[in-house]
Amino acid sequence: MTSHAPVIDTAHIPAPLAPIIEALAAAAVELDAVIGRGPLGQSLGAQVGENTDGDTQKALDVQADEMFAARMRQTDVRWYASEEQDSAQEMTPQGAYAVAIDPLDGSSNIDVNVSIGTIFSILDARDDAEATFLRPASEQLAGGYVIYGPHCALVVTFGDGVLMFVLDREKGVFVLAETALRIPDEAREFAINASNRRHWKDPVRAYVDACLAGADGPRGCDFNMRWVGSLVAEAHRILSRGGVFLYPGDARQGYARGRLRMVYECAPIAFVAEQAGGLATDGQASLMAQQADGLHARSPLVFGSAEEVREVARLHAEIAAR
Ligand code: F6P
Ligand code: MN
Repeated sequence: MTSHAPVIDTAHIPAPLAPIIEALAAAAVELDAVIGRGPLGQSLGAQVGENTDGDTQKALDVQADEMFAARMRQTDVRWYASEEQDSAQEMTPQGAYAVAIDPLDGSSNIDVNVSIGTIFSILDARDDAEATFLRPASEQLAGGYVIYGPHCALVVTFGDGVLMFVLDREKGVFVLAETALRIPDEAREFAINASNRRHWKDPVRAYVDACLAGADGPRGCDFNMRWVGSLVAEAHRILSRGGVFLYPGDARQGYARGRLRMVYECAPIAFVAEQAGGLATDGQASLMAQQADGLHARSPLVFGSAEEVREVARLHAEIAAR
């Protein structure tokens, strides 16, 4: 093996997974540089096709997928499942691990210089690709994301708390910055795409209406609202200062189970949120006990400060019991 300069501080990373995290970090450094050049580089936001779910695929979606796939191919990863590909690819046949990835999350924000990200999940590989990925979220070995923003950070859990690394852009190295990220239990900030209000179910509408009613409503306090439009950016904000995120199922065609994909979006974000002391549900039940029925299957997602996630679940139960 050729020696290479370290791209991430591996002291707190379980040794068997360190090469995969190093490879993810190496791709993230490359991708961060491409994103940082913005319009000085190639046209990153140009539409180049559609992915399996009918989402528009931008040039950067495809480029990011190629960058991560190329790095994963050099590791002990047997199965690589990406939002940008219909089915899982077999990489190293004897490999012990599998990686599910949303290579470029928040692609509607590429052209507008707003934070975007990569979300990843690591599992142990089984002989069958579907059997590898269609498992309870609690069986993940690692879950995390990279945020490409004013600074670039890699946040990851291995099931024992949450680590945060910040990219030193001059040196091209992710430096350990936090060993025990925590989401505050209480927070007064919610995130939801409120343009869908008329399509929501009653419990979601009741929760948001109570937040909007603020000090004059049943909650007796004012709430703030944020919606970036990049799941990674919302997750990072909530990890940093608390809050709650909702992408529920709604009445729009194709949105009965929301918009976000279980295997490479909801499951790793839920793992990080719970390891940071928060909660993650489908609105009612814990997400960590659930599994997808297809590689690209969607799931409703509510995560963040425990008190708010519980309040959403309480309203679901209360309204169902009427
Ligand atoms: O990956 C899907 C995604 O781009 C998320 O990053 C984001 O949270 C969500 O879609 C935004 O959806 P909408 O455009 O419906 O608000
Ligand atoms: Mn995404």
